[in-house]
Amino acid sequence: ENEPPLIITIDGPGASGKSSVARRIAQALEVPYVSSGLLYRGVAYQVLRYGVNPDDEAAILGLLEAHPVRLVPNTHGNRVLANGEDLTPHLHTAEVDAVVSAVARHPRVRAYVNARLREVPPPFVVEGRDMGTAVFPHAPYKFYLTASPAVRARRRARERADDVAAIEKMLRLRDERDAKQSKPAEDAQVIDTSELTLDQVVGAIMRYLPAGLDA
Ligand code: DC
Repeated sequence: ENEPPLIITIDGPGASGKSSVARRIAQALEVPYVSSGLLYRGVAYQVLRYGVNPDDEAAILGLLEAHPVRLVPNTHGNRVLANGEDLTPHLHTAEVDAVVSAVARHPRVRAYVNARLREVPPPFVVEGRDMGTAVFPHAPYKFYLTASPAVRARRRARERADDVAAIEKMLRLRDERDAKQSKPAEDAQVIDTSELTLDQVVGAIMRYLPAGLDA
């Protein structure tokens, strides 16, 4: 039998709950969890740290050549490294949020990130905006999570010590900038998580996966 490699893609807008869900699915199946957004955040962090203009694609590529950004997947949440240093603890900040869309807009930055993702040996769960469409179009299991902007802002406000109104404004801005990347694949299961708990979303996804996949 020629089964496709086990890749589960979970896409959706910012704060749709996809990272928590993807992590839980990865743990249930005992396979690595991969966050593509964390890689974009790693690149954005380097751009800030080295004072590179986020609109200068060639300069960002030069920076990545001098200081490659690497991905280390594991079941509990992947890490992003550069120069042997773990950048992961610095990647969920307002400063990184503010530039990451600009950085992720460049086709060659996307190609760099996508190449890192395609180096990961299956099986794995991968989460992002365009995993089921652009990066892993042949993945056998694809999901797209949505949630209303108000719900997403409340979720994110719980993660960060910031007020809901400011976060909602920022999320809407980022949605607009990310819109080109973020749409469900035609063969993706779309799940609106606005009224669902994390457990319920995980349960909904597990029901689409064949029994026996989990260890
Ligand atoms: O999922 P996240 O919020 O950690 O993603 C951070 C940013 O990276 C987001 O603003 C858009 C970008 N991104 C992207 O363009 N494509 C992806 N597959 C994942 C993230």
